[in-house]
Amino acid sequence: MHRRSKRAFYITTPIYYVNDVPHLGHAYTTVAADVLARFKRLDGYEVFFLTGTDEHGQKVEKAAQERGIDPKLHCDEMVTRFQSLWKKLNISNNDFIRTTETRHKVVVQKILQDLYERGEIYSANYDGWYCIPCERFWTEKDLNEGKCPDCLRPVNEISEKNYFFRMSKYQSWLIENIEKNDRFILPLSRRNEILGFLRSPLGDLCISRPKKRLSWGIEIPFDPEYVTYVWFDALINYLSGIGYGSDGDRFSTFWPEATHLIGKDILTTHTVYWPTMLRAVGLTPPKMVFAHGWWTVEGKKMSKSLQNVVEPNRLIDLYGVDAVRYFLLREVPFGTDGDFSHRGMVHRINGDLANDLGNLFSRTLSMVHRYFGGVVPAPTHPQEKDERLQETAAKVLSQLPKQMDDLAFHRALSSIWELVNAANKYVDETAPWSLAKNESDRPRLGTVLYCALESLRLLTLFLAPFMPSTSERMWTQLGMEENLWEQNFETHGRWGGLKPENRVTKPTPLFPRIDPSRISLE
Ligand code: MSP
Repeated sequence: MHRRSKRAFYITTPIYYVNDVPHLGHAYTTVAADVLARFKRLDGYEVFFLTGTDEHGQKVEKAAQERGIDPKLHCDEMVTRFQSLWKKLNISNNDFIRTTETRHKVVVQKILQDLYERGEIYSANYDGWYCIPCERFWTEKDLNEGKCPDCLRPVNEISEKNYFFRMSKYQSWLIENIEKNDRFILPLSRRNEILGFLRSPLGDLCISRPKKRLSWGIEIPFDPEYVTYVWFDALINYLSGIGYGSDGDRFSTFWPEATHLIGKDILTTHTVYWPTMLRAVGLTPPKMVFAHGWWTVEGKKMSKSLQNVVEPNRLIDLYGVDAVRYFLLREVPFGTDGDFSHRGMVHRINGDLANDLGNLFSRTLSMVHRYFGGVVPAPTHPQEKDERLQETAAKVLSQLPKQMDDLAFHRALSSIWELVNAANKYVDETAPWSLAKNESDRPRLGTVLYCALESLRLLTLFLAPFMPSTSERMWTQLGMEENLWEQNFETHGRWGGLKPENRVTKPTPLFPRIDPSRISLE
């Protein structure tokens, strides 16, 4: 039989500024990208998952200056904070790109040179206003009472020569591209926001900074007095990270199959600058840009002090990595703003994880030990009830791919919990402990426990992208010998994959309950 070549899926996170340590917002996007990457791998896709760090520009230069150290040294130190957090969060990225790496710099310079030679970049004098924290130019009419319209901080008046990318000439192409593709910018409210923004004339994009003002950047190849604007540099990571110009095979496999996950604050750069830059380079825009919402903490904007309260390493130590991953994706629809509260977190752990899932797992495995010495019984006496459980499992599996394509993680999890609840109800109603009282009910008892175990095997598979380390533990305790990550939803997601005669281990609690009074905000 002719084997269909694998479908490709390319998923990215923003590359994070290394001016500061990673926070909950960074962890959020990265976990979401990881869940998608793991899901798509189990769904038979060839996946490339890229994350990394954005190391140039004023913010990083300033952070290094404040510490009195060389910017590169500062980056080398900070990058390890991101990398170790991703390890702790079980992030399965295929690569990690740093914009200070040569492999990235050569691509940026090659693109700049090429655009310059083709007249897509020109030099002109710039007279206007500049906001240092935002690293953005503004015209007089953009200003809000003389301040930066974005951050409302004071701006500086400047007049200097710079280089500009002819972004304006792509405006009508961009509008058309957004209009004809309703999945390019999601959620739809963000798409409308950008279409609204594009109703006003689009200017050209200043892509250089004079070295006398900022030296920490990639040198403009045709003018050594200038460095590249940090956003022009950073966006190109999505190309350099998959071997643009160096690994043709990898590049053509994954471009333009890209899904860029971003926060809502960096929507314009990803849906206006980025597609027009690609168009000028001669590349197709990415498949999708999805902007998620922002987290507040205990109802307040995430300030420096609140960042400590929800410092991701601390949350993992407090609650466990999978509870954190679960909470982030279950609590709020991706795309909507959400609030992190310790109460909410404890509520989810004690309810969904300990009571519903953990309990189902431990009572089922305990009964297999109590009544069958830990050996999986054969399902010899099926009844109609069993079929309904099977149907629920099949329904969940059939819904997952679309929910994940829509990045509706909360809906995917709530579907999976339909199976958790159905299995709990099944165990309650079939009451294996009563069946165990009569020897003549033993075949039925075996069948019931088989069905409960099989639901757990499927749940483990469905939950693997969300809670990888718990799922690995469940998989091992269910006595599954195959590697969990080599499973495939299509073949292994069907009912009946669990082999009778397998041995299950004694269950260990998956999610210990947390006493809410022990959680403090300090
Ligand atoms: N370096 C740029 C991205 C370049 S991508 C080519 C950048 N970096 S960042 O470190 O400042 O922010 C990264 C992401 O964190 C953004 O997507 C932003 O939305 C997200 N968040 C920052 N604070 C957040 C919350 N409070 N909640 C959720 N996400 C938040 O921007």
